[in-house]
This record gives sequence, C-alpha cells and structure tokens, in this order.
Amino acid sequence: MKFYTVESYEKLCQDASAIIAEQIKSKPNTVLGLATGSTPIGTYKKLAEMNKAGELDFSKVVTINLDEYAGIDASNDQSYRYFMNKNLFDNINIDKNNTFVPNGKAEDLNKECEAYDERIKAYGGIDLQLLGIGHDGHIGFNEPDSVFETKTHVVKLTDMTIKANARFFENEDEVPKSALTMGMFGIFNAKKILMIVNGKEKKEILEKAFFGPITPEVPASILQLHGDVTVIYTEDK
Ligand code: PGA
Repeated sequence: MKFYTVESYEKLCQDASAIIAEQIKSKPNTVLGLATGSTPIGTYKKLAEMNKAGELDFSKVVTINLDEYAGIDASNDQSYRYFMNKNLFDNINIDKNNTFVPNGKAEDLNKECEAYDERIKAYGGIDLQLLGIGHDGHIGFNEPDSVFETKTHVVKLTDMTIKANARFFENEDEVPKSALTMGMFGIFNAKKILMIVNGKEKKEILEKAFFGPITPEVPASILQLHGDVTVIYTEDK
C-alpha cells in the first residue's frame, strides 16, 4: 500500500488525475470505477482539462460508478448519474453508452444489482477504482455491517451518512434513505485502487481503516488486503 499526504487539495487533484491519465494512456479501453462526493470534483475537472487540451482520449474508456440513491431518477439533480454527467461525462469525449451508474429507479432493484455485477464481469473487472471514504468508513455505500457484502446490493444508509450528505440537499429529510452500491466483489477485484481523502475530520477514520483491525465495521479496512492501493490524503479542504 502506498499512503501519502500532500500539502493541498490542488496537489491531491493533480496527483490523482495524473494516475488516472497514466492508466488510460497505457490502456485506452480502461474500465474505470468512479466515485461521487466532493473529493473527486477537482480530479474530474483536471481530467476534463487534459481532454480538452488533446492530451487524454476517453473515446474507448468504460466507466462503472460505485453507487446511486434508490428512488430518484437520472434527471434528478441529486442523482449520481446527474453528478457524473455534470462533473465529468459532459466535459470529455466519452461515449455515454459506455458509462454506467446503477439505475435507482429500476422496477426491480435486486435485478438491477445482479445485472450490475454481470456487467462488471462482462467487462473483465475494473482496471482502476477511484474511491473516497465516508466518516463511518464506508466505501461506495458499503456501510458498517457485520459482514463484508460481496455483491452489488441495496443498502439502508446510516444516520451518519444521511447527515453528511444532507449538505447537498435542501434539508436532511430529503436525503434518500437507501441506495444501490457495488459490493466488495467489484471494488476489491479492481486491479488498482486509488483512494482520495481530504479534510481533518477524515483523518481518524482513515487511520482506523488502514492501520486498525480489518473488520466489516470499518468497510474500507478490507483494502489492507489488496495488493495495489494508493491513498492520497490532505488536510486541506
Ligand atoms: P466526500 O464523500 O468525497 O464527499 O467526502 C466521500 C464518501 O462519502 O465516500
């Protein structure tokens, strides 16, 4: 595991986008696992700048996002599909047919989850998975639990996650109470993992996840067993 601290959010975005760009250059049809949240926004901006400058081509790239809220559709500006279009896909030359986010409005959410895992398998797994970490140690929406859930599944969000995500909504009541998330099968089987974390308030959970016991009570702790993880951290917000 490579774990390092940088002096600023700007540097974190520079380093993360350079790692992703290198991956795409070495394999133009890379399968990228992508994340939402505040942390990756600057990284996505840099990738879009590289694309615009003609330095990075996304035409063959496939993306598979970690998660989506249940019960809201892609046109809702709180959906993760909307977030991804706005912060990345609309700003690069990717074929939107090659971008996947779970469908939170699927009639049968369990079937949607099964199909999601089948798709990951069909693409041969994820080459590089970008991750953030939640205050409770979640990755994707894999919340603290008594087991590591392997498959893509529907989860009930913890109060901590609902509170943390309320900043994106009018008020806490509007935050969906459940979500679809990729499980450990998709995440852990990614060939490379890149976790980006910023803010002092994440320091304690980050230390627990990477230097504490491996337990599903801290979902990110499973990454200690993965052979190719890079964590970039900055206190800067
Ligand atoms: P953040 O979220 O990037 O908004 O801090 C990370 C997460 O909850 O996974």
